[in-house]
Amino acid sequence: MVKIENIELPDFPLLLAPMEDVSDPPFRAVCKENGADLMYTEFISSEGLIRDAIKSRKKLDIFDYERPIGIQIFGGDEDSLAMASRIVDVTNPDLLDINFGCPVKKVACRGAGAGVLKDIDLMVRLTAACVKATRLPVTVKTRLGWDDQSKNIEEVAERLQDVGIKALSIHGRTRAQMYKGEADWTLIGKVKNNPRIKIPIFGNGDIDSPQKALEYKNRYGVDGIMIGRAAIGYPWIFREIKHFVQTGEVLSGPSVQERVNVCKTHLRKSVEWKGPIVGINEMRRHYSSYLKGLPNIKEFRNRLVVLKTPEEVEAVLDEVLTTYDGVEIEHSPIELINYHEKCPL
Ligand SMILES: Cc1cc2nc3c(=O)[nH]c(=O)nc-3n(C[C@H](O)[C@H](O)[C@H](O)COP(=O)(O)O)c2cc1C
Repeated sequence: MVKIENIELPDFPLLLAPMEDVSDPPFRAVCKENGADLMYTEFISSEGLIRDAIKSRKKLDIFDYERPIGIQIFGGDEDSLAMASRIVDVTNPDLLDINFGCPVKKVACRGAGAGVLKDIDLMVRLTAACVKATRLPVTVKTRLGWDDQSKNIEEVAERLQDVGIKALSIHGRTRAQMYKGEADWTLIGKVKNNPRIKIPIFGNGDIDSPQKALEYKNRYGVDGIMIGRAAIGYPWIFREIKHFVQTGEVLSGPSVQERVNVCKTHLRKSVEWKGPIVGINEMRRHYSSYLKGLPNIKEFRNRLVVLKTPEEVEAVLDEVLTTYDGVEIEHSPIELINYHEKCPL
């Protein structure tokens, strides 16, 4: 069992990564159903929370069936982060996570997200401010460092543990790398194997198959892993990894029926939570991954992305099911999108 203060997680827990515009309640619902052990919200601006911006407030929506769930905030100012922590506290998630990893310019270059990696003293002060302001366990998600010349994660881990964080998730890239190249887990392993480190260390970056998850578990000894892009349109990754780690067997991929059902659940939750217009629009980015691997699916996909009502979408999804029911989908490798600022996902 892995413990984050009083939160009990199973052995080698699988975490759903916080992802802006992706890790919302509808997406989290399908990941939870498929085995995610701990989930995080999208990152929320501390300034936005304080100004009471609607977009930021809406991201605080969490539901009991999602527990344990963490709310993630970011910011570069101690008072704002403390105040935001108090706002988060009232919404009663299981934990509060601070983002010190976001590489995008509008965040990192304004001294928040990964920008804080350039100044560990500041990072420590910001973290301490949050720890003091909330009764919730505080966790941090960050990267290896700002760039190749300043990979300071080993020091960061020790100092953040000393100011009271209860777990640390590390994405094996620097800020300068953005999403390029391969994630390097060597330093993540070093942090985990540092005898001074007592808190759980979760590794993150490029896990896209059960085999890789087990290999990295064994090689780096992390307490659990956090999965982001591989879960987009493929929430089954969680149960597949679990099964493989527990039994050494590769579970077969989801049937067409299951793909269609989960896509419908995601759609319904999306419409429920966002309303019909935004709910339908924002679902459009997910169809291709849910239906990936089906022969000649392009025609259906093109139809799905222009439909305007949930009933129409469900009707086309039913057609997909009748056309492809029983078809065995070849398990193609999951594509890890190269996320950047203008990427719709
Ligand atoms: C679309 C997208 C949005 C993201 N938004 C956030 C975020 O809000 N907070 C955060 O800490 N990381 C964010 N990330 C980074 C992921 O949490 C994760 O660290 C990264 O994708 C690497 O993991 P992966 O290889 O499993 O995807 C985002 C990544 C993507 C692809």
